[in-house]
Amino acid sequence: MLLLSIITLLSTIAWGQTYGNSSKTYTNPILDTVGADPWVIRHDGYYYMTYTTNDNITLLRSNELTNWNDAESRLIFKPEPGLPYSTDIWAPELHLFDDSWYIIFTADPRFDSPSPEIDMYCPFNCPAVNHRMFVLSSSTSDPWTAEFTYKAELDTYDQFAIDGTYFKHSTGLYHVYSCWYQKYDAWPANLCITKMSDPWTVTTNFTERVILSVPSNPWEKTPYGRSVNDRLSSNEAPQQLTNPSTGQEFIIYSAARSDNRNYCLGLLELVGSDPMNPGDWLKESSGCVFYQNPSEQAYGVGHASFVKSEEGSEDWIVYHGMRDPSNGWGARTIRTQKFTWAENGRPVFPRPGYGPYSVPSGEV
Ligand SMILES: *[C@@H]1O[C@H](CO)[C@@H](O)[C@H](O)[C@H]1NC(C)=O
Ligand SMILES: *[C@@H]1O[C@H](CO)[C@@H](O)[C@H](O)[C@H]1NC(C)=O
Ligand SMILES: *[C@@H]1O[C@H](CO)[C@@H](O)[C@H](O)[C@H]1NC(C)=O
Repeated sequence: MLLLSIITLLSTIAWGQTYGNSSKTYTNPILDTVGADPWVIRHDGYYYMTYTTNDNITLLRSNELTNWNDAESRLIFKPEPGLPYSTDIWAPELHLFDDSWYIIFTADPRFDSPSPEIDMYCPFNCPAVNHRMFVLSSSTSDPWTAEFTYKAELDTYDQFAIDGTYFKHSTGLYHVYSCWYQKYDAWPANLCITKMSDPWTVTTNFTERVILSVPSNPWEKTPYGRSVNDRLSSNEAPQQLTNPSTGQEFIIYSAARSDNRNYCLGLLELVGSDPMNPGDWLKESSGCVFYQNPSEQAYGVGHASFVKSEEGSEDWIVYHGMRDPSNGWGARTIRTQKFTWAENGRPVFPRPGYGPYSVPSGEV
């Protein structure tokens, strides 16, 4: 009995050393610079991060999820002026399909400043009327040495499209992005889904395009409960999240407006088998699933991505937030925290804050 206790004690200590649930901690933000729309993937022993730098796509590589100040950095893409995708390069994401890497991103031509003759068509104004989704591809399986070249614009029917991502499902591949009802809407920004035959080809026509979610709840509007019109009401930054135990599929998206404190995360759960059928999705309408924490000065938290800890045992959310919400977009920095799962298989996100928190298991 005593021997057994000693063995248990020793193995507990060994576990602690091996998996690093020691006292090592980190604080947010995890990158000491202004940054938004972070996207992180773990591959072959490294974490890779991209985020919005506006005029280029830069890839960071790090051994640690919780400190990117010493990360290696590599310029992936910097377009020439005068192209449909030369400016406002937002929310790049790096994805692996069949041993090749792809980057999906938002961009527009000439900072999308439509002429009065275009602007007049929108009910308020048309600041994002030319934003579209694009894809870069590479032919090698190592994201760090891969050369990325322009592959295609994703078909969004010559309409507003931002924050596009891939949704991978047993029934195929889908493009999920933020969309308007029609070409000159401006608001609300909804979530749309279309089917793809490969990472750069949309096969759904406009008639069959499906709107999965519109910002219809009070917490999806800014100010909260806005009743006059849909200005500043948005659903954007969709991101696939899969429960590793149950296989439940979620889309976690950002709601309200990205430049102020109310920005937060909402949840859609695929409860049926067809992602193209709006009735197969269940929207959590009662409120945000991740939202501002004034007692810790954590505001405007959103645009998340998800990654696992080193040995795959923990789930982490990477997101941006603001300490001073009066500074708008320029106040955003990149943060990460651990999250867990509820009995019903849904994610349970923490309250946003600055820590110190324990580093992910596996980081010592
Ligand atoms: C470390 O992890 C082990 C195994 O999960 C657990 O038994 C132990 O209580 C943890 N220690 C601390 C300090 O969190
Ligand atoms: C990429 O963009 C960032 C942010 O604007 C900038 O700091 C960096 O210098 C750019 N890199 C290159 C190589 O242009
Ligand atoms: C759109 O696609 C559907 C399904 O493939 C097809 O039935 C329909 O005719 C198409 N509509 C147009 C306008 O092409």
